[in-house]
Amino acid sequence: MPTAGILLAVEGVDGSGKSVQVGLLADALRRRGRVVQVLREPGGTSLGEELRRALLDQGRGVDDALVAALLFMASRRQLVVEKIEPALARGEVVVLDRSFVSTWVYQGIVGGVDLAFLESLTERVHGPAMPDCILLLDLEASVAMARREDRGAPDAIEERGAAYLACIGDAFRQIAAQRPDRIQVVDADGTVEAVHERCMTIVEAVLAARAPEGSSS
Ligand code: TYD
Repeated sequence: MPTAGILLAVEGVDGSGKSVQVGLLADALRRRGRVVQVLREPGGTSLGEELRRALLDQGRGVDDALVAALLFMASRRQLVVEKIEPALARGEVVVLDRSFVSTWVYQGIVGGVDLAFLESLTERVHGPAMPDCILLLDLEASVAMARREDRGAPDAIEERGAAYLACIGDAFRQIAAQRPDRIQVVDADGTVEAVHERCMTIVEAVLAARAPEGSSS
């Protein structure tokens, strides 16, 4: 019998080190013998990548927050059906680079789309394949902004600036405080290795809680 799959997600403001930590997490889990898929949101499927271009390409972008929320959710649903459910059924670990929490934050709290509506849509979109654990990389907006300045051209959402980034950070903390069962806040200030250690401590606990009795993995 395959072990049950596990769905993890990594979240945070742009510049929080999310994508680097996703890669390190996947490598660490592979070293433990797990089959790991890394998937990004929006994207991860061919429809999802088309929606990503419509939502994020420079000079494009979607102004209306409800339209954006529905497109992010459409990309997510396609990812659940096409990639996540089959991977979990095979007992794999799926690591998501962003998740529904981003929609709640960017289009919900900050964009003004009704949060209760987004919560109920999320339940339909994920069904039983809800993330087991979401790691929120928490970083001061000023630090995140400085890190971002070292990177390339901003996407359509990133172009909105520092005050916007601070609002996003607060909104992430607000959602995390409401969902302590699913969302774990990780201090993202420090070296890449130190943040990775913090993430792994949490993920180890999730793996241990899900391991069949008598098993050590
Ligand atoms: P991001 O995941 O940071 O990709 P990259 O590393 O290529 O910049 O960018 C995705 C952007 O989309 C980011 O600004 C947040 C935004 N976003 C939403 O507004 N809502 C969502 O539901 C998701 C998944 C992302």
